[in-house]
Amino acid sequence: VSLRARLSILSVALLLALLLVGAGAEYLVLGAYLRHDEASVLRQRINQTVRDLDVRGLPRCPPTRPATPLLAGRLNPARAECIAGALGGAEVSAVILDSSQAVAAHAGQAGQPQLAPEQYRQALAGSPSDYVLTGTSSEEMIAVLQPLRLRGRVVGAVQLSESTMPLHTTQRRLLTVLGLATLALALVAALVTPLLVSRALRPLRRLTRAASALAAGDLDHRVEEPPVTDEVGRLARAFNEMAAAVQRALGVREESEAGMRTFVSDASHELRTPLTTLQGQLDVLGRGAAADRATLRTSLGSMQREVTRMSALVEDLLILTRLESPGTPARQDLVDLDRLVAETVDEQSVRQPNQRVEVDAGVAGEARVLGDREQLRRVIVNLSTNAAKYAPGGTHRWRTRRAGATVSLSLADEGPGIPETVQQRIFDRFYRVGGDAGSAPGSGLGLAIVRSVVEAHGGTVGLASSPQGTTFTISLPAAAG
Ligand SMILES: Nc1ncnc2c1ncn2[C@@H]1O[C@H](COP(=O)(O)OP(=O)(O)O)[C@@H](O)[C@H]1O
Ligand SMILES: [Mg+2]
Repeated sequence: VSLRARLSILSVALLLALLLVGAGAEYLVLGAYLRHDEASVLRQRINQTVRDLDVRGLPRCPPTRPATPLLAGRLNPARAECIAGALGGAEVSAVILDSSQAVAAHAGQAGQPQLAPEQYRQALAGSPSDYVLTGTSSEEMIAVLQPLRLRGRVVGAVQLSESTMPLHTTQRRLLTVLGLATLALALVAALVTPLLVSRALRPLRRLTRAASALAAGDLDHRVEEPPVTDEVGRLARAFNEMAAAVQRALGVREESEAGMRTFVSDASHELRTPLTTLQGQLDVLGRGAAADRATLRTSLGSMQREVTRMSALVEDLLILTRLESPGTPARQDLVDLDRLVAETVDEQSVRQPNQRVEVDAGVAGEARVLGDREQLRRVIVNLSTNAAKYAPGGTHRWRTRRAGATVSLSLADEGPGIPETVQQRIFDRFYRVGGDAGSAPGSGLGLAIVRSVVEAHGGTVGLASSPQGTTFTISLPAAAG
């Protein structure tokens, strides 16, 4: 059974039960009220009649003298008869009791129920009792019993009784009306409730569809968020947030997977070139060229270069993967950049004795940062190697400065510069200006490593280049103190 049907049935059933309970309660309350009301009518009838008789005498009671007030203080049979006659009627029967509980007179057609002796004693003692119901429910009687006071003295008791049949009729009629109304209301509810429930459940149906669409791979699917912030509204919002999060996560994964694929294929491509060369050389040697000393030397020299190049490439790859694998604890050496620069310049001067290099250091010991000494050395070596390769001649100027909490390190050369169109890309892995491995001596990983290291140390790399020269500037957080 659907939720909609269940909710509808439940609410209609609840409504019906409440209406029925209400109708039952009304029936009972009305019954009690009608009897109470009838009893007070009877009581009033007694009081009224006795008072009238007392004041005006009794014209229709022949045995007594008309002029004499009825209540001379004693109840004689004639007076009793007279009072009974005035009280009794076709539906109401009256009984007058004298002070000895004996029936002094009675009148009226209806039955005269016998009440408990205790009640008669009480009435004769002067206290009126509540009304009494007697008989079975099909022929129920209601009776009231009042002391009969003449001139302030209790001289007997009056009992008035009548059938409650008319009350039953009224009650039954009410029951019919209530029953019909309940039925009509239940019918209306049964028609309207499913519509209301269905309306309330519409957002849930939309959510179900959206969830199915998401599961089927439609990551762009969202549900309309209702403006109200009820449970369904919050659910819709949560669903949309979840869908967006899933989409983001999948996007990130796809991106990193794509990046990984490119990286692996680029690396394989880079390794294949020297391997092909090596294979060619080995083939040549295998065919007997080793016999010729000059060819052998050339071949070995070429093989040596390829192997050197390959190991440099593999080392660069290793550094990059280590930098980018998460969870590697970062070393926190206190590194003096001035000293690293000095060391690098010394090494470089051995290889390029004619290159003019100037070092402009600030206050000694100020350019200190916290980090991995070997990685930072690699940054300086890479920049220096690039300047030597791509901007030989002119002057290479190193400059270190500390400004507040930042240490900056820059290398300016007077080379041909880097075309503006490729300035964005030179930090990419394997990117070389001017094509593949054949035309340039590097792997294209140097600046990628520079950027990775600097960013891992919380710094930035800047580049300014023109046809007159290029300046790389590295900013790193300074070590405290
Ligand atoms: N100082 C420089 N002057 C001009 N071009 C440079 C300089 N440094 C780097 N480049 C350019 O940036 C490219 C990428 O450098 P890099 O990542 O170190 O790779 P590689 O040195 O292996 O070619 C180089 O191919 C070169 O064209
Ligand atoms: Mg390089």
